[in-house]
Amino acid sequence: MLWLHPILQLAALLIAVRVLFMGFNRFRFQHLKQKCAFNWKGHVKQGKIAAWLWMAGLVLGLYMAQHTWGALALTGPHYTAGMLMWPFVLVGLVTGYLLQKPSGKRPGLALFHGAANLCAFVLALYQTWSGVEAVRLLLL
Ligand code: HEM
Ligand code: HEM
Repeated sequence: MLWLHPILQLAALLIAVRVLFMGFNRFRFQHLKQKCAFNWKGHVKQGKIAAWLWMAGLVLGLYMAQHTWGALALTGPHYTAGMLMWPFVLVGLVTGYLLQKPSGKRPGLALFHGAANLCAFVLALYQTWSGVEAVRLLLL
């Protein structure tokens, strides 16, 4: 069961790479006026999967740590970055739900959405690096 959290979070990160790439194309189209295709429905669907997986995986990580060792924050920086990450994911989700139906241009909100999700993505990269350390120390 302790492996479930790392596997879920890695899967979410892989999906997020695709979602971020799509979002980057939208950014190029909307702000840089470059010709770029954007798979709107695909981005929304896969974005929801990635973001909700991150949220569920985080809760699972906390639950497993508390359940197994009877304490939180044993993983140090991995725990801290996880606590930093969820507000960005939440903002990305709320703004994503607001943007999901094409209804005129909202470039400011889209930029805010993209920036929040980019921060979440960078933190998820750090979580993978610090998570490998947690696997070595606690799981192997
Ligand atoms: C978005 C990415 C991630 C977030 C937000 C996250 C968050 C967390 C949090 C909050 C905990 C509880 C830590 C504690 O109380 O000390 C935890 C535990 C843990 N994390 Fe992550 N994590 C992420 C990705 C990963 C990845 C990619 C790995 C492995 C490569 C990993 C490995 C672990 C391990 C081994 C634990 C101990 C508990 C368990 O195995 O369920 N995490 N994580
Ligand atoms: C890992 C998760 C996600 C990432 C990395 C991400 C990234 C991005 C980026 C970079 C943009 C371009 C912003 C801009 O043009 O300024 C964008 C646009 C968009 N995103 Fe996401 N996103 C994610 C999740 C979601 C979710 C969960 C939804 C819906 C619930 C969503 C809906 C949209 C929509 C509709 C647009 C186009 C908005 C517009 O141009 O008016 N995204 N996203």
